[in-house]
Amino acid sequence: MAKEFTLPAYGIVPTVSASKKLPKRTEALIVPVFEGEEDLVLAASGLFTEAVELELLKTLTALGATGAAEEITKVPAPAATNLDLIVAVGLGNADEVTDTVVRRAAGVAVRELKGVHKAATTLGTFGVQAAVEGAILGAYTYRGLRTAELPERKTPVAELVFVGADKAAVERARITAAAVALARDLVNTASSHLYPETYATLTAGLAKRAGLQVEVLDEAALAKAGYGGILAVGGGSTRQPRLVRLTYRAKKAAKHVALVGKGVTFDTGGISIKPSANMDHMISDMGGSAAVIATIIAAAQLQLNVNVTATVPMAENMPGGGAYRPGDVITHYGGTTCEVLNTDAEGRLILADAIARACEDNPDYLIEVSTLTGAQLVALGTRTTGVLGSDTFRDRVAELGRSVDEPAWAMPIPEEIASSALKSPVADLRNIATHRFAGMLVAGHFLSEFVADDVEWAHMDVAGPAFNTESGYGFTPARGTGAPVRTLLAALQDVSDQR
Ligand code: BES
Ligand code: MN
Ligand code: ZN
Repeated sequence: MAKEFTLPAYGIVPTVSASKKLPKRTEALIVPVFEGEEDLVLAASGLFTEAVELELLKTLTALGATGAAEEITKVPAPAATNLDLIVAVGLGNADEVTDTVVRRAAGVAVRELKGVHKAATTLGTFGVQAAVEGAILGAYTYRGLRTAELPERKTPVAELVFVGADKAAVERARITAAAVALARDLVNTASSHLYPETYATLTAGLAKRAGLQVEVLDEAALAKAGYGGILAVGGGSTRQPRLVRLTYRAKKAAKHVALVGKGVTFDTGGISIKPSANMDHMISDMGGSAAVIATIIAAAQLQLNVNVTATVPMAENMPGGGAYRPGDVITHYGGTTCEVLNTDAEGRLILADAIARACEDNPDYLIEVSTLTGAQLVALGTRTTGVLGSDTFRDRVAELGRSVDEPAWAMPIPEEIASSALKSPVADLRNIATHRFAGMLVAGHFLSEFVADDVEWAHMDVAGPAFNTESGYGFTPARGTGAPVRTLLAALQDVSDQR
C-alpha cells in the first residue's frame, strides 16, 4: 500500500463530555436565556441558589439582554459561583425553541469562550444533539500552515462539559460534528497538498481505520476498466486521477444507499480556462467528495443500520499537454458517449462514470453531491443547496436538509431541457446546453442519463453551500463549511428507520 498521508493542518475543536453537575475548576458557563412576555427569563438551570440567579438576572437585564435568539451577553460571574465568566445566549421565545435555534445559539456562544480552558453549559437540556453539534462546529478554527502560534486569547475553548446531558447522546453528536469537521479540513486543504493521489491515500487510511472496505483505482486501472470521463478530465494534470470506492456493511440492513461525490481537487476550467479572479476558491471543488467520505466514515462509527457505498472520482482539471479539448468525444464507464464542448463542465463528466459504476451494485437509493454549477448560486444564493432527482426522494432529501439547518430546495428537470438541451450530432450527449438558461437543471439532466432506471436518486448541487466566501455566522465558519454532511447522515438515518 502507498505511504500513509495526513493533512498538513486540521481545524481546532474542543473536547466534549457529559456531566450531572457543574465540574470543579470550570472557568466559564454558557447560560441559555429566553425572551419572556415582559422580562428576560433565565433557563432554570438548578446550578445556583435562587439569590445568585436573581443577581445574574439583574445584571443581564441592566446590560440590556432581551433573550432574543443568538443574542450574546457576557458578564463576570457572581462571586458565589466559583466561575469567572458567564456567557448568556438567547434562545428566543421559550415555547418556540427548535434544534435550529439551539444549534445556532451554541455556535455563537462558544466563540465567546476564546482563551478559556474549561467551560460548561446547560444548553444540552434543550437538545443535546443540536447543542453539541453547534458548539463543536462554532468553535472550529482552521489556521492552515500559518507558522505563528495562536495567541491564547484567540484559542478556542479546549474542554466543554454538557451539564445534564446524556453521555451516549453527546458521543453521537460528537461523531457527527467530527464528520463535518473532517469535510471542512479536506475542503480547506490547498491543492498543493491535496491532489488525487494524496487524497486517495488519505481517504483509504481513514476508511480502513473506521473498518470500511477500500478499493483505489489508479490511472492504469481506470484505463483498463474504461473510465473515459475521469481520465479525460484528469489528463491535463501531471497528478493522475483516482477512483476511490468505500463500503460499509451494517450487521443486518435492509437497504443500500450509494453515495457519489465530486472530487475535483482543483478546477482551472482546463482548456476552457476560468478567469483568474477568485480561481483560488476552486480548491473547494472536491467539497461533494469530502462530504461523502466523511459521511460514510461516520455511518460506520455510528453503526447505522443501512448498507452504504461511496464512489468518489478524484481528478485535477488542468490545461496541460495531456488535456482534453473542446470537440473531443469521450466514452464514459458503461459505454455512453459524450461530445465535450466546454472543458469547464468537468464535474458531470467524472460523476457520469462514478454514477454508472455505483448503479452496478443495485442500490435502493443514490445520493450524489457536487460543487457542480455557478448556476446554483445564481438560482438559490450562497447557502441553499439545489436538490434534483426522482420526485419523492428529492423532496425528502431537501426537507431533511432544512430539518438539520443545511438549507436545501427541490428543483425540477423541465421536460424541454430533458428532451433537447443536450443533443449532439456526433455523440449520445453533449456536456453543455445549446443555450445559457437553467445551468443547474441542465447539469442535473446530464447526470440523470447515468442513473439506472430502478434507483431513486438525488443530486445535491452545493457550489455555494460547501464553501463560505464571506465571514462566519452561527455555527458556520469562513471557507469550508462541511455541508451537506449532516443532511447525508439524516438521510441514511431516515432510510434505516424505514426498514
Ligand atoms: N466547479 C464549477 C462550479 C462552481 C462554480 C463551483 C462556482 C463553485 C463555485 C464547475 O466545474 C463549473 O465550472 N461549472 C460551469 C459549467 C458551465 C461551463 C456549463 C459553470 O457553472 O460555469
Ligand atoms: Mn469547472
Ligand atoms: Zn468544477
